[in-house]
Amino acid sequence: MKPQLLIHGDSREELKSLEPNSIDIVLSDIPYNISFDEWDVLHQNKNSALLGSSPAQLKNASFKKRGKPINGWSKDDRNASYEYYEWCRSWIKELYRVTKEGSPILLFSSRRYLHRVASALEDEGFVIRDILIWEKDKAHKKAQRVQKVLERRGMHDTQFDNYRIGNLAPIFEPILFAMKPYKGTLTDCILRDRIGGFYCPDGKIPDNKFVYPANRKNVFHPTEKPVGLIKNILEVFSLDESHVILDPFMGGGSIPLGAKEMNRGFVGIEKQRTFFQTAYGRVLKQERMEIEGMYV
Ligand SMILES: C[S@@+](CC[C@H](N)C(=O)[O-])C[C@H]1O[C@@H](n2cnc3c(N)ncnc32)[C@H](O)[C@@H]1O
Repeated sequence: MKPQLLIHGDSREELKSLEPNSIDIVLSDIPYNISFDEWDVLHQNKNSALLGSSPAQLKNASFKKRGKPINGWSKDDRNASYEYYEWCRSWIKELYRVTKEGSPILLFSSRRYLHRVASALEDEGFVIRDILIWEKDKAHKKAQRVQKVLERRGMHDTQFDNYRIGNLAPIFEPILFAMKPYKGTLTDCILRDRIGGFYCPDGKIPDNKFVYPANRKNVFHPTEKPVGLIKNILEVFSLDESHVILDPFMGGGSIPLGAKEMNRGFVGIEKQRTFFQTAYGRVLKQERMEIEGMYV
């Protein structure tokens, strides 16, 4: 029987209860450490701007929850990145134990901290294979006009008319692709467990870029991933219906749901009760919702 298991708890503990060599593929949208939500603060940084709590953010609603401006000046700022690395190592260690030789590990990560996740994977024994990307159809743009800031200082300078502060339009999200080392060859892994290679739909080698529209509305989780995108990724990496897909940070359950719709086994873990309940309803009780003519 393929497992269909959803666990309410902290992955750093719950992963310890899984059997060694019981997971074929890890696919997860892990916390990005960009401090946009409480569950995404994985460091001790006490900067007062964190989570929209600075005086300027409290005064202006559009400023709220923008996250802490990281200028890298304080020791806390610099530590936030390293503490995230240590947090990653604490659960990646367990991934190493529960996966199989040749298992692909696919982790959606932030552009800002992906290097820490990659180092944590490497330092726990995994081999980095590639950085895949999810290219969206639209970017969530939020860069501030310099001219506006200057106006508040009673200044104006036309040379800054088209100049902004913040991020370039983030049209893609990276997905780290690592692999558990194997003795022998990848062909041995493929023959034994149907893992270690990738499937070529229509015989064509897939790009390392997955193009898929972003959700128009996130209804189940603030950082919900489209179930269709998850299925496209699994189609490439999971050759066999016997596979068990692990998502230790499942949020509203999009990844276990994608695995279930592809007839795979799955294990999903989520710490926050409300998100866990959403995932449980969606994945195990098949409570779906119609939004703009689509079932999500
Ligand atoms: C980026 S979200 C996942 C969203 C999900 N892909 C979806 O489509 O709904 C990451 C989730 O990890 C959860 N989380 C954070 N730390 C955790 C931990 N130690 N154990 C289990 N879940 C955790 C957060 O509560 C959050 O819901």
